[in-house]
Amino acid sequence: GQMTIFNLGSVNADLFYRLPHLPAAGETLAAAGFTRGLGGKGANMSVAAARAGAHCLHIGAVGADGAWAVERLTEYGVDTRQLREVEEPTGHAIVLLDAEGENSIVIFPGANHALSETHIAEAMGSATSNDIFLFQNETNAQRQAAEQASRLGMKVAYAAAPFSAEATLAVLPLLDVLILNAVEAQQLEQATGRAAESLPVRDVVITLGGDGCRWHNTDAGSVRDLSAPKVTPVDTTGAGDTFTGYLLAGLDRGMPMEQAIGLAQKAGALMVTRYGTADVIPDLKEVQEAFS
Ligand code: RIB
Ligand code: NA
Repeated sequence: GQMTIFNLGSVNADLFYRLPHLPAAGETLAAAGFTRGLGGKGANMSVAAARAGAHCLHIGAVGADGAWAVERLTEYGVDTRQLREVEEPTGHAIVLLDAEGENSIVIFPGANHALSETHIAEAMGSATSNDIFLFQNETNAQRQAAEQASRLGMKVAYAAAPFSAEATLAVLPLLDVLILNAVEAQQLEQATGRAAESLPVRDVVITLGGDGCRWHNTDAGSVRDLSAPKVTPVDTTGAGDTFTGYLLAGLDRGMPMEQAIGLAQKAGALMVTRYGTADVIPDLKEVQEAFS
């Protein structure tokens, strides 16, 4: 049968404010634009994987105010049967966007931090060693889920965002694939005292924005620098998540790592040309046509 990406991740309402610059302490700023959409690093990754053609089962939680988010995820092709409603309100993110497309984000975790151990165990119940387990750092119970995935022999992939040294070190021995941006890679290096290529993880992918990415494969002892398509960014929010979702969808389909990275880079590049997060993640056809 078809393989599944089990993605344990956050679901947020993203409140986007377009600003001339990011506010300084004590400064009051009027926004030039406001939009509300579906986001959360987890949801963005699930939508990206689904848009890329994968079967992605999202493990997560929303509040009583989150029915719209579940509906939208379903509409975008994500399997939402393991999204539960909890007492806490749906998580949200305040995304401040400057004129260069750079952002500052404040998240309120809410329901994303209210996942129960039984929920996780049940949600993972149908997983097999052919499936992939993906997670990020915006929910609770990540370690428990990653341990279960590892016991099941699943491929375990982690995007260490938002970065926490403690959370990353706790799951490091369980990982097959680790995805970091340049800042996170530096933070991890500081925390471990070891460079990415000497970590006990088979594949380490470090995204470098417009400069492409660096892929370390510890089995082969190899390091590859892979350049990304050049685009003019308007909004980098969600581009990393889109990269990760596409990367895992590529691997799920059996692509070699280098080819999956190439596809993910195209999807990420297209994403930085679009305002917004989950609602504007491109599908496979758009990605292929944009850079053919
Ligand atoms: O990576 C972008 C995401 O971070 C946004 O969608 C926001 O919800 C925060 O989780
Ligand atoms: Na964007």
